[in-house]
Amino acid sequence: MHDRRLPAIAALLVGACAHHPAPLPTPDVGLNGNWVVRQPMGDGTSRNSYFALTQRGDSIGGTIRTTQFFYRTVIGAGTADSFQITGVMRDGASERRATYTGKLVGDTLHLFTRRNAQSPMTESKAVRAPAGEGAMPARIEPPARHAVRDNGLARTPPMGWNSWNKFAGRVDDAAVRAMADAMASNGMRDAGYVYVNIDDTWEGERDAQGNITTNRKFPDMKALADYVHAKGLKLGIYSSPGPNTCAGYEGSYGHEAQDARTYAAWGIDYLKYDWCGARNIYTDAEMPAVYQKMGDALLATGRPIVYSLCQYGREDVWTWGADVGGNLWRTTGDIRDTWDSMTRIGFAQDSLARFAKPGHWNDPDMLEIGNGGMSADEYRTHMSLWSILAAPLLAGNDLRAMTPEIRDILLNREVIAIDQDAGGKQGARAWQDGDREIWTRELADGSRAVALFNRGDAPASITARWASLGVRARQARDLWAHQDVSPGSEHTATVPAHGVVLLRVTR
Ligand code: GLA
Repeated sequence: MHDRRLPAIAALLVGACAHHPAPLPTPDVGLNGNWVVRQPMGDGTSRNSYFALTQRGDSIGGTIRTTQFFYRTVIGAGTADSFQITGVMRDGASERRATYTGKLVGDTLHLFTRRNAQSPMTESKAVRAPAGEGAMPARIEPPARHAVRDNGLARTPPMGWNSWNKFAGRVDDAAVRAMADAMASNGMRDAGYVYVNIDDTWEGERDAQGNITTNRKFPDMKALADYVHAKGLKLGIYSSPGPNTCAGYEGSYGHEAQDARTYAAWGIDYLKYDWCGARNIYTDAEMPAVYQKMGDALLATGRPIVYSLCQYGREDVWTWGADVGGNLWRTTGDIRDTWDSMTRIGFAQDSLARFAKPGHWNDPDMLEIGNGGMSADEYRTHMSLWSILAAPLLAGNDLRAMTPEIRDILLNREVIAIDQDAGGKQGARAWQDGDREIWTRELADGSRAVALFNRGDAPASITARWASLGVRARQARDLWAHQDVSPGSEHTATVPAHGVVLLRVTR
């Protein structure tokens, strides 16, 4: 926090030197004061960034708060005509910095920054705000730990759709209805994709009683839930344990029980709870207690609400996610629609297999299938790997505009059956030679899923030797070709570049 006494002290000093009773200068001199950049989002809300600055000589200090980040320390230098400030904050084990250059023109602070070294310089304009506006709320002590009762949900990995990967901040009521329509009519619902999940940017302000409201993009959440339910689907929503979500919208901090009741009253069936702004208040070690608070709150509503933890796999969440009431927990940072991102995440899940079980799943993030950044072979690898991993299958594409090829990938019932296997045992890597890998998953009926992955850039021959994989094979079926293959003592396939051959081997 910036030191609010400084302007007062400055005013006293100036006052003491004056020979005549002159009007006290405003404490907001030069860069001193609280500055705000208001960015209207077009949905009735605005994202405000606050720069609470103190200037002494040519040294500048203070704090910066922008979307989900609160930089507790500002290191800066220069004059009102030309200065540079760097906000510094701790984020878990790492340090985060944001640098701005700027100049004061009249009453407007012009600030220039880059999101990262590669991105272009952007300019924003800050005006004076009352002292204290945008200040971080005081810390609320996290509760003492206890085990949250299992809600009995998600006995198999959740399946559905989530708005973020395709729509991000553009999601609205109409888009959600359109996705529900598509899921009910294109076979997805009947294949098990039942959750329609609204991610970040639905939030409005809190009302006078502190109830969370929706922004203009979502005129009536209850009516939307009714619509989705009437299609035989379920509705999911998103929030953060912090004061702000990742996109800078209102989080649930200090309103956990109240928000859970609101969700239940709206008819919400699934909550994704994203760490984001909580990083400014709590340490990573406090994550379990903080997540437990919402786990308790959801249970207390009496409504079955799937609880999805999103904190990017920090703090070994797989060791405590179930204890705080979580049905699934993200194991990694955000996926992107690239081969690199998908495989970097997917093939790194090997050591987490033992933490997945019915009701409690590792979540390597949502599907990018159909978003256009990968080939059909790569998307088949994505779908196969996620199914071997017993991962949630949350489509992230525009379901209104799917090619038959993409639909066949998302709707392959034989592959979905691997993902949804009642045994709930996550698979793991069984063999690797360079770019060629074999992953297997034990299924409830004693059969095995065996995936032959070729991560290389050219087609490759891969042989699965049943004995060395510990598999007894009486029958084998290729789940993408939809064909039985002769099991023999081994199976050799030519696997396309970045592709997969997925088998179900029955003994
Ligand atoms: C984080 C999450 C994403 C998405 C965005 C929304 O980055 O990891 O999955 O929810 O926030 O702002």
